Amino acid sequence: MGTAMDFRGRHVLITGASSGLGLEMARELAQRHGANLVLVARRKDRLEALREELEGKHRVQVGVIAADMTRDEDVGRVVEEATRGRELYGAILNAGVTFFGHALDLTEAELDGLLRTNIASTTRLANAFARYLIEKKNGGGVMLVSSVAGVSPLPYQAVYAASKAFLNSYGRALAEELRGSGVSISTFVPGGIDTEMMQKSGITSSSSSLAGFLMPADRCARLAIEGFRRREVFFVPGPLYKLTALVSRIAPQGIVTRQAGNIYRGSLPKRG
Ligand SMILES: NC(=O)c1ccc[n+]([C@@H]2O[C@H](COP(=O)([O-])OP(=O)(O)OC[C@H]3O[C@@H](n4cnc5c(N)ncnc54)[C@H](OP(=O)(O)O)[C@@H]3O)[C@@H](O)[C@H]2O)c1
Repeated sequence: MGTAMDFRGRHVLITGASSGLGLEMARELAQRHGANLVLVARRKDRLEALREELEGKHRVQVGVIAADMTRDEDVGRVVEEATRGRELYGAILNAGVTFFGHALDLTEAELDGLLRTNIASTTRLANAFARYLIEKKNGGGVMLVSSVAGVSPLPYQAVYAASKAFLNSYGRALAEELRGSGVSISTFVPGGIDTEMMQKSGITSSSSSLAGFLMPADRCARLAIEGFRRREVFFVPGPLYKLTALVSRIAPQGIVTRQAGNIYRGSLPKRG
């Protein structure tokens, strides 16, 4: 699509806006682009605090929807509430969870929660908002937040990496199907970011070499929003992660998978 997006005075929805990358993308959109926002996550108190911050500092309108992406009824409610009384122009589907450890140690509930949050809800929302934007004909777009972890298999984050491989594939395919429709579909593919996800997973505390390579969340958010604005179909932020993604894609998959396994194996949490 030719013209770049212009967020000023438009409404943009962000899932997973209560921390990390989602929170910083909200700040970036309000501060630099003057966008109105619809913030979605489970922790409503955090969303309300962010609403107060952004409305106070930047004179933008901010709506808050508390919703759990593992619950089908909440996913449906997000579409309904986000589009009631306002016209959406953008949707950034960023909510996600990871699991670091042996794939067989995932409980049924953890597995179900990860697949629902990272894949099922993201796909449902992408389709719903793409249909909505096609009908509105306002030139808007949808961005899926994926990961370099989805470019090749990743032992000890196996289910997470596979969920992001789904998004890498789906985002690109949907973008092609909707080429010429007036709606852009972008897939954002970052490497490690310094957020709660990394802290909670235990990856950084167990692999101090990785901690040094994490991108600050505000910088990552700036690059994410710039790529979304330019309607990039599939984009990786920063030279280091561009190189990682390239090597992961073109090197023999057996070697890449073995090396990734070697890096993480020594620093795994102990099996109970
Ligand atoms: N950190 C990294 O190294 C990295 C690298 C590549 C890609 N990413 C991707 O970037 C995205 C943001 O991650 P982050 O690093 O910013 O992690 P984060 O700080 O842990 O943020 C995750 C966000 O997702 C929301 N979320 C999680 N489960 C949810 C659920 N069931 N329902 C609704 N919201 C839910 C959380 O909100 P509540 O807990 O309040 O619901 C939170 O706002 C994810 O898709 C992640 O896979 C991260």
